Amino acid sequence: MTYLVLDSLRHQTEDALNEQFAFDVLMGFSAPAKYLPSKYFYDAKGSRLFEQITELEEYYPTRCEFEILNRVGGELAEFLEDEPFEIVELGAGDGRKTKVLLTQLLETTKQFSYIPIDICETAIANLVESLNQSHPSLTTHGIVGDYFASIRHLENTSDSRKLVLLLGSNIGNFDFPSAKRFLHSIWKCLNHNDLFLIGFDLKKDIEVLTKAYNDKRGVTRDFNLNVLTRINNELAGDFDVSRFSHHGMYNPRHGAMESYLISLEHQEVHIGALEKTFEFKPYEAIHLELSHKYLLSDMQQLADQTGFTVLNNWQDSQGYFADGLWRVNKDFPES
Ligand code: AVI
Repeated sequence: MTYLVLDSLRHQTEDALNEQFAFDVLMGFSAPAKYLPSKYFYDAKGSRLFEQITELEEYYPTRCEFEILNRVGGELAEFLEDEPFEIVELGAGDGRKTKVLLTQLLETTKQFSYIPIDICETAIANLVESLNQSHPSLTTHGIVGDYFASIRHLENTSDSRKLVLLLGSNIGNFDFPSAKRFLHSIWKCLNHNDLFLIGFDLKKDIEVLTKAYNDKRGVTRDFNLNVLTRINNELAGDFDVSRFSHHGMYNPRHGAMESYLISLEHQEVHIGALEKTFEFKPYEAIHLELSHKYLLSDMQQLADQTGFTVLNNWQDSQGYFADGLWRVNKDFPES
């Protein structure tokens, strides 16, 4: 068997997922400042659009992290002991970046297996198959499940030391308090001295940031508008997406890129699944996403406050992106 689908996920029926989506849309559109949770970006079309974003000239984070991962394998190996360990990747997706790291680690004498985790079964099935072809000497066991259920499953089934990967700048999509809660929850599922390699998009020139989230080809715009299309398809909405524009801006107070959809005119939108009509005023915004940018000192603070010790930071040559290597410190109080 090459991958496992966790039971907790099997029990989430299509109906329950739709109900949650409807509830979140109701909450978001009933709030005084309208919003939608960014997790709804990632249906099959949204995931494809995100992959296209990662290949855009303007969207530097993926390229920068590739550069880092392409050269850190040897150095990373120095932090790994000789006993066998497991590399557990949270949100593995297509594993493109991880493969370059795995290739380098396979060239060392380290013994390890690879456990990619993703909520999307197709992503895991494809990744496991492609690794079996490209890296036949590597033992790969995929898990289809959410992050916490999957790590808890590993806690009960293996006592090997772990190197957990959270690549990309996914942590940036949380605000600081939520990032802290998330990281401390991961910490609770890990053992003393386990390692964590985590990607952060760094603070930089605002023009570079603004271009990265407002690309010329409009892929980021389509990625955002796709959430309205999802509401049309899955919740019987009647959005005319051409009556909304995309707006990506840097908020220097929050240190974050913020994405909005702006209603271009006064309009009413009916959502069948909610049996409700929502009014959008001219230029009214729907907030969709936060992408926090970090300083190395912010990364240090986050590690200090969640029970990790920073062992190293690697940056790309432009200083746009950083991967931090953290060690779990179980002397830290559990909250
Ligand atoms: C997935 N996440 C890290 C991306 C980001 O940069 O915040 C999502 C994204 N949104 C617009 N472009 C990319």
